[in-house]
Amino acid sequence: MTTTGPIRSICCIGAGYVGGPTMAVIADRCPHITVMVVDLNAERIAAWNHDDLARLPVYEPGLDAVVGRARGRNLHFTTAVDDAIAGADMVFLSVNTPTKTRGVGAGQASDLRWIEASARQVAAAANGHTIVVEKSTLPVRTAEAVKAILSAAQGTAGGTKTFSVLSNPEFLAEGSAIGDLENPDRVLIGGEDETAIESLASIYGQWVSQERILRTNLWSSELSKLTANAFLAQRISSINGIAALCEATGADVREVGRAIGTDSRIGAKFLQAGPGFGGSCFQKDILNLVYLCRHYGLEQVASYWESVVGLNSWQQQRIARLVVNSLFGTVSGKRIAILGFAFKADTNDTREAPAISICRDLIEEGAQLAIVDPKVGDQQITQDLGRPPVDPVTAARGVPLGGDGTWIPAESVLEAARGADAVLILTEWQEYRHLDWGAIAAVMRQPAWLFDARAVADAAAARAAGLSVWRVGEG
Ligand code: NAD
Ligand code: UGA
Repeated sequence: MTTTGPIRSICCIGAGYVGGPTMAVIADRCPHITVMVVDLNAERIAAWNHDDLARLPVYEPGLDAVVGRARGRNLHFTTAVDDAIAGADMVFLSVNTPTKTRGVGAGQASDLRWIEASARQVAAAANGHTIVVEKSTLPVRTAEAVKAILSAAQGTAGGTKTFSVLSNPEFLAEGSAIGDLENPDRVLIGGEDETAIESLASIYGQWVSQERILRTNLWSSELSKLTANAFLAQRISSINGIAALCEATGADVREVGRAIGTDSRIGAKFLQAGPGFGGSCFQKDILNLVYLCRHYGLEQVASYWESVVGLNSWQQQRIARLVVNSLFGTVSGKRIAILGFAFKADTNDTREAPAISICRDLIEEGAQLAIVDPKVGDQQITQDLGRPPVDPVTAARGVPLGGDGTWIPAESVLEAARGADAVLILTEWQEYRHLDWGAIAAVMRQPAWLFDARAVADAAAARAAGLSVWRVGEG
């Protein structure tokens, strides 16, 4: 155990979806602590420093107000990584940990190169005693590697450099990040050094009650994060599987969800059927769990969790196929309005969004998609679909029969629907609950469809306007 005084300065490596909001809330709640958020990405740091709080790099309801209160006071965003590490009592590692794309474990294992690089940077630049906190989601036993890298530097710089390593995974969900951070179900701290654990607990203790701060060993903490995401994703695959059965049998998945969710052992949350889960973490974290299970020789456990991801991909493919089948077996040359591209409402994040694979499948079938999303821009969609939009003049002429599939951005739902054979809702944005289906149907080519993969639209109004309607999970 190492002794350490109260934490006066924090450095967070990684100014992403987790680092930015998490540190903004810590700075807001702990005005006595200086919080430096650092990143290699100068553009991202510049965006965090933008005068216009509407242009922060991450869109999260309430984030602008929190950043507005703390930035320039005790919250700073900078690319000066080494200086921030040198001045910090505590360093959070909040860097990306995507799935490996090549080499051993490609497609499943986490790519830990950014964690290793940031640990090496801390080892080199730290001063005195530094508590290093794993905030990124990591395979169980990663702390061993982090400790090994830090130990190699321990005792250098005149013998004053020492480290403690903690695991403190983040459970925020995008779109509700600020609420989740300000009022978490729990904060999890794993470690061996009790003084370090209490230093971190005292930071959260500024606004989180002690009974919600759980202390575990390092490995339980690391594994709990993967397990939490796996359980959440498993519920979504379970309800999506039942949704398909509801469609085949005349049951309604929302009624089934309500009926099972009132059982307190099951609970009502995370039972919304949809186009499949997206987001940067569920798939990557389950695949990581699958990889770990195989590594430890647990093949049955690995295949069990793998099937959760398999069902998710199937759900996305099923929706694209269903659209094609309903439109007389072909979408070639047909316009389809896509409402929502973000992986869920209230975020501008499109990582692993179901919209990506569904749109790609429809483009492959020759459709012309008109895509609208309140927070996702054309550039992001271009990157995700791997192709730029066609120009408006070509789009206005329509897609020649047999032509390649394309997409165009649309400014409004009505613009997207003009001349379309179908509207496909892929993100549950609030505004899609109150659409004027009379006006939309009037600009569509008839016969026209509404495919509601989120079951948010007013289906009765759409039917009354003459549209055929498919809602996920409705038999
Ligand atoms: P992100 O990609 O948005 O941000 C990571 C940032 O780290 C990037 O801006 C990158 O430039 C920076 N970075 C990488 N290496 C660096 C280095 N050596 N020095 C300085 N900066 C460096 O990722 P994210 O969504 O914030 O996720 C971060 C971690 O948190 C992941 O492990 C993820 O699984 C986990 N997590 C994410 C969420 C979420 O909602 N996005 C929630 C809980 C946990
Ligand atoms: C998820 C977890 O909820 C967080 O606790 C975790 O910290 C985070 O992953 C992470 O580790 O990154 P997030 O992916 O931001 O958060 O958002 P969720 O609300 O979990 O939604 C994930 C996906 O599941 C979305 O595509 C969403 O539309 C879908 N979903 C969610 C459903 O289809 N049905 C539901 O009932 C709930």
